[in-house]
Amino acid sequence: MFGMFDAILAIIHHVFVFSLAGCLVGQWLLLMGTPSFSVLKLLGRVDAVYGIAATGSLAVGVARIFWGVKPASFYTNNPVFWTKMAVWGVVAILSIFPTIRFIQWGRRKEIPGVAEFVAVRKYVFFEILVFTLIPVFAALMARGYGYR
Ligand code: HEM
Repeated sequence: MFGMFDAILAIIHHVFVFSLAGCLVGQWLLLMGTPSFSVLKLLGRVDAVYGIAATGSLAVGVARIFWGVKPASFYTNNPVFWTKMAVWGVVAILSIFPTIRFIQWGRRKEIPGVAEFVAVRKYVFFEILVFTLIPVFAALMARGYGYR
C-alpha cells in the first residue's frame, strides 16, 4: 500500500515536471512567432500554467522526500539532491524576468517589437538548457549517486 502511495506521488511529480518542460518549450515557440495581442495572451496563459507546474513540482517533490518509500535522509545527506534543488532554484529565479516582461507587455496595450521577442526567446532557451540539468541530477540521486 505504501508503495502504491509512492507510485502516485511519482506519477504526479512526473506530470508536473513534464508540464513544466512543455510550458518552457511552448513559450520559446510562441516567442518565435510574429508579436501580436493573441500571442501575448497565450504567453500569459502558458506562464500561469508554468507557475502552477513549478509550484506543483516543488510541493510533490517535497512530499516524495517525506512520504516516499526511501527515508528522507536518502536525499538530505546527498549533495546530488541538493544540486538538483539548487538548479531548480536557479531556474525559478531565471523565470522571474520573462514573467515580468509578459506582464509589462500585457499592460502596455501595444504590440512589442520583434527584437524584444527575440531577446526573451534567447533567454528562455538558456532557461531550458539549465532546466535540462534537473532530470540529470534527479536520475543520479534516485540511484544513490552522491549518497553518503
Ligand atoms: C524542488 C522541487 C523538487 C523536489 C523536492 C524533488 C524531489 C524528488 C524526489 C524525492 C524524487 C524521488 C527520487 C527517488 O526515486 O528516490 C524525485 C524524482 C524525480 N524528479 Fe524531482 N523534485 C523536484 C523537482 C523536479 C523537477 C523540476 C524536475 C524536472 C525535470 C524533476 C525531475 C525528477 C525526475 C525525472 C525524477 C525521477 C528520477 C528517477 O526515478 O530516475 N524534479 N524528485
